[in-house]
Amino acid sequence: MDIIHSVADLRARLEREPNNVFVPTMGNLHEGHIQLIDIAKPRAACTVVSIFVNRLQFGPREDFDRYPRTFEADCARLREAGVNVVFAPEEKEIYPEPQTFVVEPSDLQYLLEGAHRPGHFRGVATVVLKLFNLVMPHSAIFGKKDYQQYIVLRDMVRQLALPIEIIPAETVRAPDGLALSSRNAYLSPEERREAPRLYNVLKKVRAELEAGARDFQRLDQEAMAELTRHGWRPDYVAVRRQADLRQPSERDRGLVILAAARLGRPRLIDNIEVVLA
Ligand code: PAJ
Repeated sequence: MDIIHSVADLRARLEREPNNVFVPTMGNLHEGHIQLIDIAKPRAACTVVSIFVNRLQFGPREDFDRYPRTFEADCARLREAGVNVVFAPEEKEIYPEPQTFVVEPSDLQYLLEGAHRPGHFRGVATVVLKLFNLVMPHSAIFGKKDYQQYIVLRDMVRQLALPIEIIPAETVRAPDGLALSSRNAYLSPEERREAPRLYNVLKKVRAELEAGARDFQRLDQEAMAELTRHGWRPDYVAVRRQADLRQPSERDRGLVILAAARLGRPRLIDNIEVVLA
């Protein structure tokens, strides 16, 4: 496994690698990330993983400085997973000058996560396009854990005609249902015991939809009220269309229920897809 820190070395290494698949990450790797690598590996001769905590996608009051950085342990996991190239640049390699050209996603960037994290998806789309231009993969894998991120990047690649296939991967969960996330490390033991409720609430909404409920706003509000009753501060629980994350009509079949809520200081997100018969 080659560990590469500079853009020049990356370009030199990948020059002889026309067939590569890419998994971008911010490090602090867990089983969710490893699953993306397992999906990537059979698709190409060379699997490239990036580790870069991208300041551009963090708001001024978010956890950029505190974001867990565990480079040595990450490299051990990546080696074990059979990764070929790790790209772990310093900030000045990716942003040697102020990034004044950015990727401005569609109105999607203002919904849901975007409404609570202004500029977040602009920062994500900009760094991912830049990483794509450095790695030049034929495919890239993204987790549905960050559902809106996946949709934004899928649409970016389609609309800008990038020759890259975006492959979604299912959310990996702990045995009690909590979606794996680097931010779970911020939970106290008591909060960790409460945390699976987020997924349980989503499953309850899914069961109601499957039983015929179509009063989407009532479902959203009841789910938020249940979280609030148990000490959460929900930003949203929202039944949306899978295709574009807009409000569904009664005729839509492919739905996704998305949620974000704070439990103590940490803010957790999760979602669950529903396909109605
Ligand atoms: P990060 O949060 O490190 O996630 C990297 C990838 O792992 C993303 O595609 C994310 O959706 C996926 N992932 C995280 N937890 C997962 C889980 N429990 N199950 C399945 N997949 C999971 O997402 C980012 O980094 C950044 O925004 C990035 C795309 C790297 C751009 O900076």
